[in-house]
Amino acid sequence: LGNSSSILTNFLKCLSQQSETSIPVYTPNSGNYTTVLESTIQNLRLLSPTTPKPYLIVTPLLESHVQASVICSRKNKMQIKIRSGGHDYDGLSYISDVPFVIVDLNNLRSVTVDVESETAWVQSGATVGEVYYNIAIKSPTLGFPASVCTTVGVGGHLSGGGYGTMLRAYGLAADQVIDARIVNVDGKILDKDSMGEDLFWAIRGGGGGSFGVVLSWKIKLVPVPPTVTVFNVARTLQQGATELVHKWQDVAYNLPKELFIRVILGVANSSQNNNKTVQATFNTLFLGSLGNLLSLMKERFPELGLENNDCTEMSWIQSTLYLNGFPVNGPLEILLDRTQPKRFYKAKSDYLKAPIPKVGLEGIWKILLEEDQPILIFNPYGGKMSEISESSTPFPHREGNLYKIQYLAYWEGLEETEKQLSWIRKLYRYMTPFVSKNPREAYVNYRDVDIGQSKNGTATYLEGKVWGGNYFKNNYDRLVQVKTKVDPQNFFRNEQSIPSVANA
Ligand code: FDA
Repeated sequence: LGNSSSILTNFLKCLSQQSETSIPVYTPNSGNYTTVLESTIQNLRLLSPTTPKPYLIVTPLLESHVQASVICSRKNKMQIKIRSGGHDYDGLSYISDVPFVIVDLNNLRSVTVDVESETAWVQSGATVGEVYYNIAIKSPTLGFPASVCTTVGVGGHLSGGGYGTMLRAYGLAADQVIDARIVNVDGKILDKDSMGEDLFWAIRGGGGGSFGVVLSWKIKLVPVPPTVTVFNVARTLQQGATELVHKWQDVAYNLPKELFIRVILGVANSSQNNNKTVQATFNTLFLGSLGNLLSLMKERFPELGLENNDCTEMSWIQSTLYLNGFPVNGPLEILLDRTQPKRFYKAKSDYLKAPIPKVGLEGIWKILLEEDQPILIFNPYGGKMSEISESSTPFPHREGNLYKIQYLAYWEGLEETEKQLSWIRKLYRYMTPFVSKNPREAYVNYRDVDIGQSKNGTATYLEGKVWGGNYFKNNYDRLVQVKTKVDPQNFFRNEQSIPSVANA
């Protein structure tokens, strides 16, 4: 870029004019630029020397700094990328192929819990772990139904739905949002009342990055019992994993809401002959006591052979540690740790309306066994998810879904990338006959640019429908209407954003 230094100078001048206090910025010449840029990028696939880097990173300390960033980006015709926790699977919060600025909300991370009203105000830059921690230190009987992984950022997570082990009991994180503060395209701050019903609807699941910068969210907390029960039971193919997973498909979505049993499938060494085998781990949270869980399992899923000593009773907050593999009796402060191991990976998702026959499962195992570190996660739906209508938020995957599959390929070095991408795409093709069709549904928070993307967010209505239909089904049209109303010139955009049809 020939005039890069003058754009930068103008941008910085604009920021200082717009704000009475100094706004932290990092240019490629700043000492900390790389550290700040890489701080929340945990996908090494998107951290190579050839990955496009931002012109500037702004790390607002105040809401007014976010307003200034939007105003100055527009004025200088600079694309912005909004980043909260940086967990976007395809890096849309920190990569662009046009010159861009990252507005990184990492510093805007306060969590204010009000036990009496059972609500909290949470800034977008907080992590889910910080939310859990701040609830737990104030109340042993309140919780929040959000992601299993505690380093996920609130900003992107709530924008795309957000779920965890309390999904069947309470629905999504976005289902609990009762107010929000957002910086719109004019740099104004709006709340639920001033943004209006349509925009408030769109930001609760319509995917981050299309409508504005959400500063903070008011969330409803949910009741959790003082004692919950967890278990992790693993079975290999030799131990009957195929039959168990086959049965699980009929059982899991029909169970009482308080019981969430997901299946994590991976490759392990068989203890019998040391050959590779597929292992299914039944990874569970029950919002109740061990005794009640055992009798429920005996009645509904006796084939698993669950025993007393497979299970542990603990508090809900300890279950968030357990599900992350943290020591359950260790300090809760581990929930505040933002460091994530960096790995090479690619993910995809699918929704299932009918069980996969055994022969179909055996076909999946064959493909899994071609690799060393594949992971599939089968997440049960039903319960509360079936009670919420498809249009109540933009997240449409409700009644009629037995479960969702998340596919993950992990690998060790950049040179393996193409091979691994081909492998996961092959698996996704293999799954076609078993999964939802017309559209082939996908979860927007499991961002997958393979299903369609536009260069720098310039899609038409029909182009956007290619991925927008998969992510949002019939809600896509309303999202386009909202976008066209609140950001007709399409300032807030990314490779899979909702298009404006103002100029069509
Ligand atoms: P990031 O900052 O990358 O943002 C994601 C998207 O939202 C981008 O398009 C970004 O521009 C936009 N955005 C971010 N902040 C915004 C704001 N304040 N206003 C407007 N737009 C904003 N999901 C789940 O439901 N359950 C789970 O258990 C998990 N577990 C999990 C584990 C790991 C290791 C990863 C990497 C991811 C998950 N996820 C998940 C997926 C996660 O919910 C998803 O990646 C979220 O979008 C991440 O939000 P971040 O703020 O971290 O991402």
